[in-house]
Amino acid sequence: MSDVVAIKDQVEAAVRAALSQVLPAELAGTDPVVRRSDRADFQANGTLAVAKKAARSPRDIGADVAGRLTGLTAEVSGPGFLNITVPDDVVWSAVAARLADTRLGLTTPSTGERVVVDYSAPNVAKEMHVGHLRSSVIGDALVRVLEHLGADVTRQNHIGDWGTQFGMLIQYLDEHPDVSWKGRGAETMSALDGLYKAARAEFEADPAFADRSRARVVALQAGDAATLDVWRDLVAESEKAFEVIYDRLGILLDGDDFDGESRYNDALPGIVEELLRTGIATESDGAVVTFTDGVTGPEGEPVPLIVRKKDGGFGYAATDLATIRLRVDHYQADRILYVVDARQALHFRMVFDTARRAGWLPDTVQTEHVPFGTVLGTDGRPFKTRSGKTVRLADLLDDAEAAIRTVLEAKEHDFADAELDDVVHAAGIAAIKYADLSNTRTKDYVFDVEQMVATTGNTGVYLQYAHARVRSILRKARTEATPGDSVDATLPAHPTEKALALTLDAFEAALRDVADTLEPHRLCGYLYDVATAFTRFYDACPVRKADDDTVRANRLALCDLTGQTLATGLDLLGIRAPERM
Ligand code: ARG
Repeated sequence: MSDVVAIKDQVEAAVRAALSQVLPAELAGTDPVVRRSDRADFQANGTLAVAKKAARSPRDIGADVAGRLTGLTAEVSGPGFLNITVPDDVVWSAVAARLADTRLGLTTPSTGERVVVDYSAPNVAKEMHVGHLRSSVIGDALVRVLEHLGADVTRQNHIGDWGTQFGMLIQYLDEHPDVSWKGRGAETMSALDGLYKAARAEFEADPAFADRSRARVVALQAGDAATLDVWRDLVAESEKAFEVIYDRLGILLDGDDFDGESRYNDALPGIVEELLRTGIATESDGAVVTFTDGVTGPEGEPVPLIVRKKDGGFGYAATDLATIRLRVDHYQADRILYVVDARQALHFRMVFDTARRAGWLPDTVQTEHVPFGTVLGTDGRPFKTRSGKTVRLADLLDDAEAAIRTVLEAKEHDFADAELDDVVHAAGIAAIKYADLSNTRTKDYVFDVEQMVATTGNTGVYLQYAHARVRSILRKARTEATPGDSVDATLPAHPTEKALALTLDAFEAALRDVADTLEPHRLCGYLYDVATAFTRFYDACPVRKADDDTVRANRLALCDLTGQTLATGLDLLGIRAPERM
């Protein structure tokens, strides 16, 4: 493993150092604000903001800084920013250094950071819906990126595996011993979902059944063996079904990651007791609640967080408080992420606030709700099937795969059936995941299969094509004479070569940006930039037919690094990059 210092970081350090020499001591360390630029390789405009404080003209400071930058060409421009050009050999050397490293020269800035990511969290005996899809896809991308940057990540799938609804379902199953629901893989969930609905209908229609269901809840909570057995079956079968979906979607979550609500049962009475004892919670109308400063309803009335309900049952809030304690004390988390839809923002705000005040959440630990918007249908309304049911994940994937199969089959190809199936699967998942990840996380987005499988524009399938195109160039080049794979750093770089190389050099910055903001669309945007920069380069610079072997070798190196960057980036989004498309 050999870390490479990104060129932008080198430029930034150089300008920062020069700026410190030029400015009065108290302004040392001023951010030089270095950005990529159209007019040169980089632009630094930190001179503008600091000029006033230094009581000098920005142009004057700029000229002074430019004079001190060694190894870079810098010119003062406009009101006083700097246009900075990096020598070609620095650029080629970076390409070579990244290629020589299996990690493409990326550093691991998050080493030592412990992160717990709570994501997916579907409910036992219920079909996963598109909201769970979003949580799964976003959470998984975050897990992958954070891990790639060196963090020690614990995945937790906080499934809804406890609650009074189980009384009803177990009672129903008991009274209908003939219904079959087990061992049907992903179909188990549809069967259970149907049973759940039938049980609810009966519960509402038949007061006697409702009473027997309530008695079942008591039996479940009291640990009645027969009741617990059925409950365990329900959980186990649901987990199996979830795993089938995760496997199909290429989501990392597996059997070890389940961290259901039931795990926290025993901790709940203690949570309530301690909150009451410390005066953080109060009793209100028989319930135990906490309040958070500034959280008020439409009439300005304080909104309670219900920790224990009037009937003595514990709510979702109590369980989430318990998750924090375990994640802090046992997992020693530095950062805890909850990838849950935006409608639960208030819940998390109040839970985090309560935990802080209770002393369960030290200042050194950061809890973050990672909210996301709603998936909409093409009619702009929350996504439902035509009959108004929630859409099944498996069906979405089937639709995407069917659409991409049509696209692929319309093109000329020489795929054997098995390879075509594999590519269809990879592209179907790319279509769905990328559509989700490439949108600003907090915004709603429209689920539009035709748009998702488009082979042009900012789609996952387009990036897979871009990757496959690069791989094809490399394959062909390698069968030809003297492939040559060593970079000659003394060669001049064509502007499109340089632009591509500098884009590739910014990979780590893009990943860090995702780790900081928890917004995977930034990585999507970056990979799209890479693909675009590659296309410009490839349009301007012949690769296999380059006039000169050294030029050809340098260009092949650029292709290689592009291909590897795209493949790694897609992998961090949970998307495969097939060799051929
Ligand atoms: N099971 C819940 C749902 O389906 C989501 C749970 C999210 N995670 C959490 N720690 N609250 O809405």
